[in-house]
Amino acid sequence: MSLLSIKGLQVGFGGVRVLHGIDIDVAAGALVAIVGANGAGKTTLLRALSRLLPLQAGSITYDGRDLGGVAPHHVTRMGLVHVPQGRQIIPTLSVEDNLLIGAGSLPGLSRAEIDARLAGEFERFPVLRDRRKIPGGSLSGGEQQMLAVSRALMMRPRVLMLDEPSLGLAPQIITGIFSALRALAASGVTVLLVEQVAFAALKIADHGYVLQNGRIVMSGPPADLLQDPALISRYLG
Ligand SMILES: Nc1ncnc2c1ncn2[C@@H]1O[C@H](COP(=O)(O)OP(=O)(O)OP(=O)(O)O)[C@@H](O)[C@H]1O
Ligand SMILES: [Mg+2]
Repeated sequence: MSLLSIKGLQVGFGGVRVLHGIDIDVAAGALVAIVGANGAGKTTLLRALSRLLPLQAGSITYDGRDLGGVAPHHVTRMGLVHVPQGRQIIPTLSVEDNLLIGAGSLPGLSRAEIDARLAGEFERFPVLRDRRKIPGGSLSGGEQQMLAVSRALMMRPRVLMLDEPSLGLAPQIITGIFSALRALAASGVTVLLVEQVAFAALKIADHGYVLQNGRIVMSGPPADLLQDPALISRYLG
């Protein structure tokens, strides 16, 4: 059974429909990539999953529970954590304080537990330890993305959802971030990666979906999708 199941999802803004009946299944522990061009509806999909946007039709089932009426902060507490497009770290706060905000969104964590999680994140991305006292805004783009991922991981999610972590980064930096995501999935965290860089994302994924104009137009094992000449020419432009 899948950990996250999306059925017939329709989402829009006012009278404008953006997602036209999306079906997606995410197995526990898998890394699933949803790739699509500019404006395909990737951010809208993740915001709907985080319950930041109302559903017009369809359902989202997570760990056997219907997320329809669940508030965004409860979604987070249930273990579904969203790394938003554009990182959205707090530039004036130190790296360490940005990470503490991640832990702060969960009530009742002991100081010892927070310190253990912080140490774990510094081990995952040692550059964040080196820079823990400096403002988040003075990190490079790649380091800010690591910080955004780490901040989310401070919540120990069961499902990590990432909205275009590659945005604005050099290929070599993207490779580094993506291998951290692969390692995360190998450690048992379910990863839902939404991306415009289709090749790189599908290469690390266990399962892939192609989103075009608010519809899933292809899905399957990444190796099959990558062999399909239509992937780039027709859907990813
Ligand atoms: N707040 C909004 N009000 C009205 N329309 C919106 C709003 N947000 C997004 N849209 C429209 O919904 C469609 C999908 O947008 P979305 O941001 O989900 O795409 P995306 O795949 O994330 O694109 P990108 O790769 O540029 O981030 C676009 O046509 C966009 O103009
Ligand atoms: Mg987007």
